[in-house]
Amino acid sequence: MDWKKIYEERQCTADEAVKLIKSGDKVGFAHAVAEPPVLVEAMVKNAAAYKNVEINHMVTLGKGLYSKPEYKDSFTFNGWFSSPATRESIAEGHGDFTPVFFHEVPSFIRKDIFHLDVFMTMLSPPDEHGYCCIGVSSDYSMQGMKSAKIVLAEINDQVPVVYGDTFIHVSKIDKFVLTSHPLPELGLPKIGEIEEAIGRNCATLIEDGSTLQLGIGAIPDAVLHSLKGKKDLGIHSEMISDGVVDLFEAGVINCSKKGLDPNKMMITFLMGTKRLYDFAEKNPMVELRPVDYVNHPCIVAQCTNLVCINACMAVDFMGQVVSDSIGIRQFSGVGGQVDFVRGAAMSLDGKGKAIIAMPSVAKKKDGTMISKITPYIDKGAAVTTSRNDVDYIVTEYGIAEMKGKSLKQRARALVNIAHPDFREELKDEFEKRFNAKF
Ligand code: COA
Repeated sequence: MDWKKIYEERQCTADEAVKLIKSGDKVGFAHAVAEPPVLVEAMVKNAAAYKNVEINHMVTLGKGLYSKPEYKDSFTFNGWFSSPATRESIAEGHGDFTPVFFHEVPSFIRKDIFHLDVFMTMLSPPDEHGYCCIGVSSDYSMQGMKSAKIVLAEINDQVPVVYGDTFIHVSKIDKFVLTSHPLPELGLPKIGEIEEAIGRNCATLIEDGSTLQLGIGAIPDAVLHSLKGKKDLGIHSEMISDGVVDLFEAGVINCSKKGLDPNKMMITFLMGTKRLYDFAEKNPMVELRPVDYVNHPCIVAQCTNLVCINACMAVDFMGQVVSDSIGIRQFSGVGGQVDFVRGAAMSLDGKGKAIIAMPSVAKKKDGTMISKITPYIDKGAAVTTSRNDVDYIVTEYGIAEMKGKSLKQRARALVNIAHPDFREELKDEFEKRFNAKF
């Protein structure tokens, strides 16, 4: 098979490629940095030609124009995660959200629970053997390309080649659109005094030689800042961002003590700045594998000395963790939080720890400050990590251990790490709720 002939014959413009999308189709986008912006823009430009095209994906760093009300007859957004660009469509009612553990997304696609007619992705140019690389997102994108009836790919010469399960042969792609543009970047999170204090508290739970999973948001990066004095740390994580590069360069992360996949950072996608993408490029230390490997609780359980660090919106007195909604508002998604919380609990060496870390207070949209430790979760909010799964809760004021604790013991431990301005109020609530002295 002459792959060069296939590659040339299947090249077309973005406007031509999106004509293969038909009304009523379900169209999946590759995840996060691998979303193909030129194809998405062409699809939106062609909106008048479509009726009821459903768009599915997890995180987007794009503009999400297809989810805006003016396109609602052409497109319906049904997210597996809610991102800033698509969040409003869910709140406005013309968009929707499907809850799913991240590790299950590839198997849902494989089993046709998530049906895909068309999958749109961004790839590197083919190598000398005719293989393109998906760059920094293995996750569900590899399965999307295998299962969808039609695969449209933007070939971007700025996509880095990253090792792992990231390569696809040109014969598996239906149309190629040649482009050249920088990858989208996620700015560095702001790390202030509160985040630093949370990071220091988390660091007390991390021993030399630990394997780390880091979630999304400012807190996981702040934790990394506090680990400069540690040794021989490893990475087995759904995602990483720039903070990991700093610790690698400082010699703190070397993956030498990992029991599973030693000497490699095992990751499913990257999201950060160009520095991170350059670091990952052709780096034998960085391996991307699909999310049904990296996040599967049975795989996570094989990691040694595992410490998982994820963030949340609120925690109630029972230790129920709300991470992806604010009341009825769908803010993000479960992502890999529960995959790792459960994997850590099942850890074969019995040493897995799952930290949920958060600042003790948050500013609401109306400017009022509220305690993130709260007697009851907000009406309509979804529990992300259940009270049976929760392990450690960390704020800037300390650490509350939940496993094996009674309801009252949990509530007391949580009130003791709440913001001092809210502690008296929370103690009163404790006494009302449990009919007992604090
Ligand atoms: N009530 C009301 N608003 C709240 C709130 C609460 N209890 N807690 C936070 N907020 C507001 C913040 O003020 C902020 O508002 P702004 O956008 O107007 O500034 C917003 O919600 C986001 O909070 P912030 O703490 O800045 O979010 P983050 O970027 O650090 O992300 C999560 C935190 C929880 C949203 C994020 O970690 C997440 O989506 N987690 C679930 C998925 C997951 O854990 N995946 C793990 C593997 S990647």
